[in-house]
Amino acid sequence: MDQTLPLSGRHALVCGASAGIGQASAFALAKMGATLTILARRQQRLEDLVAPLKEAGAPDVYTLVADFDKRDDLVTKVSNHLEQHGSIQIWINNTGGPPGGLLLEAEEEELLTAFGRHLFSAQRLLKLLLPGMKDAGYGRIISVLSTSVREPIPQLGVSNTVRAAMASWSKTLSGELPPGITINSILPGFTATERLASLAEARAEKANTTPEDIERGWLLSIPEGRLGSADELGNVIAFLASPMASYVRGVCLPVDGGRLRSI
Ligand SMILES: NC(=O)c1ccc[n+]([C@@H]2O[C@H](COP(=O)([O-])OP(=O)(O)OC[C@H]3O[C@@H](n4cnc5c(N)ncnc54)[C@H](OP(=O)(O)O)[C@@H]3O)[C@@H](O)[C@H]2O)c1
Repeated sequence: MDQTLPLSGRHALVCGASAGIGQASAFALAKMGATLTILARRQQRLEDLVAPLKEAGAPDVYTLVADFDKRDDLVTKVSNHLEQHGSIQIWINNTGGPPGGLLLEAEEEELLTAFGRHLFSAQRLLKLLLPGMKDAGYGRIISVLSTSVREPIPQLGVSNTVRAAMASWSKTLSGELPPGITINSILPGFTATERLASLAEARAEKANTTPEDIERGWLLSIPEGRLGSADELGNVIAFLASPMASYVRGVCLPVDGGRLRSI
């Protein structure tokens, strides 16, 4: 193990790690020397990542197949994993976004599912992971939310609602957690991942146009003039997870190429 790396000796749980922003943050944390547990529903995808993550610098990589929509099972699996592989000091709280659509048309069930996947799972994982962070005197909790926390996005009614709740959850905890255990959120803008591709397709179908047209419209709103890459998000997440971010606490950090117009 390279003891000189900023996260050597630390163990990170990266949720939603089989694709997109979660996967990219796993690689960024591996480069900083963290041991990794990568969690998602698709087992093969996770297994395929083990060797490349080790090559990138992670001393050990464990996989954990679990579903944020099945909370009891999720909690049992994470709890068993902690007993077997030791505590976690860094938790990347990330999972799939709710489907799009108008809030006016959303059923109660859709809101319940979204709150379950995001807020209730987060609260239960927090209770499991916090004792290990307290023992280590080092904790980093980073939630992947959305710029909709600041400016709700049309056609993402359920997502806008649950993200705002998550931002408040995180900010409230930043006042309650002990020193040395920080909690922050990142707000991705338009980031080129499977999630964005499927949103572009759904919008194109509704507007009777092409996903490329939808993307061109998005680009007009981004001062950087392009979509973000998952790696650009992963790097910011890894910074927040590192000792370099020891005095950053309770922030919602947009990583959006300047798209948000609010201060
Ligand atoms: N990409 C963007 O432009 C953008 C912008 C704003 C916000 N966001 C939000 O940022 C988060 C990550 O986005 P992304 O673009 O990286 O998404 P993505 O490419 O669709 O990846 C989502 C990850 O979450 C996992 N996942 C999905 N549902 C899950 C569940 N029920 N239980 C456990 N894992 C689950 C997926 O793996 P499995 O399918 O293997 O479980 C995958 O690893 C999402 O919440 C998204 O809504 C993204």
